Amino acid sequence: MEENDAKKRIEQLIDLLNQYNHEYYIDSNPSISDYEFDLLLKELEGLEVQFPQYAFEYSPTKRVGGDITKKFEVIQHIYPMLSLSNTYSESEIVDWENRIKKMTLEPIEYVCELKYDGVAIGIRYDNGVLTQAVTRGDGTQGENITANVKTIKTIPLKLKGNFPNTFEIRGEIFLPFKKFEEINKEREDLGEQLFANPRNSASGTLKLHDSKVVAQRGLDTYLYGVYGVDGLTSGHFEMVQLAGQWGLKVPSVKERYIQKVNSIEEIMDFIHYWDKKRDELPFAIDGIVIKVNNYAQQEELGYTAKSPRWATAYKFKAERVESNLLSIDYQVGRTGVITPVANLSPIQLGGTTVKRASLHNADQIEKLDLHYNDAVFVEKGGEIIPKIVGVNTEKRANSAQKVVFIHQCPECATELVRNEGEAQHFCPNDSSCPPQMTGKIEHFIGRKAMNIDGLGTETIQLLFDNNFIKNSADLYDLTFDNLLTLDRMAEKSANNLLKGLNESKNVPFERVLFALGIRYVGETVAKKLAKHFKNIEALQQATLLELIMVDEIGERIAQAVRDYFDNPKHIALINRFKEIGLQFEIKETATVSNKLEGKSIVVSGVFHAFSRDELKSLIESNGGKNVSSISNKTDYVVAGDNMGPAKLQKATDLNIPILSEDEFVRMLN
Ligand code: IVH
Repeated sequence: MEENDAKKRIEQLIDLLNQYNHEYYIDSNPSISDYEFDLLLKELEGLEVQFPQYAFEYSPTKRVGGDITKKFEVIQHIYPMLSLSNTYSESEIVDWENRIKKMTLEPIEYVCELKYDGVAIGIRYDNGVLTQAVTRGDGTQGENITANVKTIKTIPLKLKGNFPNTFEIRGEIFLPFKKFEEINKEREDLGEQLFANPRNSASGTLKLHDSKVVAQRGLDTYLYGVYGVDGLTSGHFEMVQLAGQWGLKVPSVKERYIQKVNSIEEIMDFIHYWDKKRDELPFAIDGIVIKVNNYAQQEELGYTAKSPRWATAYKFKAERVESNLLSIDYQVGRTGVITPVANLSPIQLGGTTVKRASLHNADQIEKLDLHYNDAVFVEKGGEIIPKIVGVNTEKRANSAQKVVFIHQCPECATELVRNEGEAQHFCPNDSSCPPQMTGKIEHFIGRKAMNIDGLGTETIQLLFDNNFIKNSADLYDLTFDNLLTLDRMAEKSANNLLKGLNESKNVPFERVLFALGIRYVGETVAKKLAKHFKNIEALQQATLLELIMVDEIGERIAQAVRDYFDNPKHIALINRFKEIGLQFEIKETATVSNKLEGKSIVVSGVFHAFSRDELKSLIESNGGKNVSSISNKTDYVVAGDNMGPAKLQKATDLNIPILSEDEFVRMLN
């Protein structure tokens, strides 16, 4: 497009999008569909990339960050979402309880609860069906994130039992530690900025526009307050337990996540118990909430402008210890990203011995004004990896040397690069920097990529050190004799590995694309690209604009894909993979065999090597039929993790063979 035409079209698009935004948000009367809106927005984004001189500050693309295309609808809360007064001091809890006692003559029951460290949510049920889920926002209005909340398995879409017609239940959505670590590992692997803590990752996840991605993240919840059900019970504790009977996930009395008490001594006992035990919880809490139980007494005590007088929060202090900074290691990831890690003199913190702490990036080191041998304060907050939060400068020797971030890669001595607007330094030598080379091979063989059996980190290092492999394609040149020269490689393992490599030639295109390790191209993006472009040639030839036009692909990902294919070394690698016989185009499900002809199969649970859809298409391509529920006509159940106990029971009762994913694949082979 000519520059002048581009300018005209950009101005026209800005006017149009502003008009549609107004219709949508102010008039609540949109004249075009969300899809049409997104198309126009994408067109504008694309033109702004091509003609940055016309990327105006007032463009609607500036309003939405990153890959987000549309804001969420804003909804007014029926009951304002208040906050809680809070304190770090036990004596202030004693004062609060004294004040409460003075305001009423009757005996008072309290409810002690965990203070979940996540994102507050208000969920509405009408006639037992989940109809709306809204974030806290500013307390009076929040964002409608119903579609995302509906993906959370522990939040029922339909209630059971004797529930009221209409009510709202509030609680906290969070990401358990285990899931948080998994996501950060994946982000690190992709060279993406890590989430600082589980709370940020939960809130980031809930704001995603693709609910399919939200569903994969493993969010969880505890619900702690019911609204709009006057008179059903006389107290909050009983109300929450009742909501549990409707199938809602409420705190467990047995595990002492919630407890009804009568005195300040019991309140303190609850606080002390969890201060000691909180490290053992599978999710993050940042304190204890204490509430007056009786609703009538709550009314009597009333509210201040911001928070109820009938409740307060005791916050745990993050445990902080002092240690010594011995040295700094600079780790090089698969994408070349450099992560500084502090080595500390060993110290006890939160029940474990800490020897290392994360430093994130050069800015962090600068902000702390770190010097070698500094006495540093280390904290373990909501994060798993401890971090350095400050320096005890009084203990610093005059001769102490300031820490200066490295300029050269510690592994290959290449000059490091830091892109504008990015926090991380990285080593650009992606073709011969050793940890990048082995990291890329490790990624290639991973479970979600080529899933090559019989090959692990140690074997890759051995093969690399012995000069058998330099890149992933070299794996396919390995011979039985090569392998036997390696320490600890027995004949059986060598055979296994060769078999695994051969089988990987059937891995579908989308996973091969993920395995290539293109920056920012994770599993989901790889699937989207594969589905859209169908084969590697089309993807390779796609312009930046064509890439941006793909649903959910933003400028950053598009640029990374272009950069990858603009590098002749990558094209050479792909050509080698083609010769080896890897899949570089989408296979429409053609019939592969009739091994499963006439068989009805149920696939249920979460799988490792394949996605559920992949297993289903395997069933179809081998002549079988996918069915969703188990009956006496079902021939097999392919069961993954977390398959519902009721389904499992039914399959067992009906004597239907239950296969693991491995057993199923073996049966086909
Ligand atoms: S009750 C009017 N109970 O803490 C009182 N809040 O600082 C409403 N929170 O926005 C809150 N665990 O996100 C309550 N067991 C619990 C809680 C809890 C976490 C959060 C909630 C709220 C914030 C208040």
